[in-house]
Amino acid sequence: MARLLITGGAGFIGSHTCLVLLNAGHDLIVLDNYSNSSPKALERVIELASLSLEKATLRLEVVQGDVRDEGILERLFLEGSQAGRPIEAVIHFAGLKAVAESFLKPTSYWSVNVCGSQALLSKMEAYGCKTIVFSSSATLYGAAKSSPIPETAPIRPVNPYGATKAAVEMMLADLAGCSGNDAPFQTSQNGWRIARLRYFNPVGAHPSGRIGEDPSGHPNNLFPILSQLAIKRRSSFKVFGSDWPTPDGTGVRDYIHVMDVAEGHTAALDALLTSGPQLITLNLGSGKGYSVLEVLKAFEKASGVTVNYELVDRRQGDVAITVADPQFAYRRLGWKPKLKLSDMCRDVWTWQSANPLGFHNEAA
Ligand SMILES: NC(=O)c1ccc[n+]([C@@H]2O[C@H](COP(=O)([O-])OP(=O)(O)OC[C@H]3O[C@@H](n4cnc5c(N)ncnc54)[C@H](O)[C@@H]3O)[C@@H](O)[C@H]2O)c1
Repeated sequence: MARLLITGGAGFIGSHTCLVLLNAGHDLIVLDNYSNSSPKALERVIELASLSLEKATLRLEVVQGDVRDEGILERLFLEGSQAGRPIEAVIHFAGLKAVAESFLKPTSYWSVNVCGSQALLSKMEAYGCKTIVFSSSATLYGAAKSSPIPETAPIRPVNPYGATKAAVEMMLADLAGCSGNDAPFQTSQNGWRIARLRYFNPVGAHPSGRIGEDPSGHPNNLFPILSQLAIKRRSSFKVFGSDWPTPDGTGVRDYIHVMDVAEGHTAALDALLTSGPQLITLNLGSGKGYSVLEVLKAFEKASGVTVNYELVDRRQGDVAITVADPQFAYRRLGWKPKLKLSDMCRDVWTWQSANPLGFHNEAA
């Protein structure tokens, strides 16, 4: 079992992954500045992992700080190596992720996502820690011409957020001494073990309803919008485009349950730690597409709530269908998503109805 640094570990995907990693026996240091999360998420991870106070102190160290802060990074790596418990690998979730916001604040996105990754990778280099799993995104495929999308599809980001993910992917390829996007598996000649995980649409929540997605501000993604509608935190929503070449005319996307994404991280980490130096690039998706209206109906069924919506014109830059070709990830990791759309809807509803204000719930 390894000692791992998890950046952004209090966030949506990070908190679910921390739980799976703790249950798998790893010891964690979480570095998070809580710019889009709450320390409560990690308290609940400790509760779900059934860790006593004493065990939690040993197995989950939580550090509030910015991933760009070289002083904090230095302290974490130095303390680990001085104590004979070096950080063996990093899972790097910390970042800004809202596409619309990235147009308004491009320099913040480049600073946190790219400079933050550069600071982290430099420190890893300095301490000889050469194993990293990086949160990349299907956004970097841009408006892909056809689906399912394999990892070798052209990288054509259409927004600043996607551009920052593409930049970090290139930095990682350079570090591994590999070429950018030629093949999903490349051998690294200089000892680096790197997984670039391109998530499609992670949704859902832990089935207990104790942890889940808690976006600050106005969410732009379908599931957080649906759940806010269901608990009456908003009154209606717009479906952009009803004349796409899809069975019901609305856009089709690939959704994957966050618990499956979390399992995908442990599988990727195991693959890196148990085989040679490599750069692997993996689509984490279900390979199945659901239209906006199909998701809406499934959510209504799970929640028993009728959702009001309005069909409006297409948005510029959107595409009809975005679905992963996840076959390489399945083969390489021996991992496959297990949970269905109905599970995603049920778990989002359990989380949102028990925590209408997310982690800011007074009653929590
Ligand atoms: N959720 C998605 O749909 C999705 C899809 C593709 C890729 N991703 C990527 O996966 C990663 C995790 O996404 P998420 O959905 O869990 O997002 P999230 O916002 O819930 O989690 C990100 C975490 O990083 C922290 N953070 C942000 N800036 C930081 C900084 N400068 N220093 C330290 N911590 C910082 C936030 O407080 C938060 O806890 C992100 O890098 C995101 O770009 C997410």
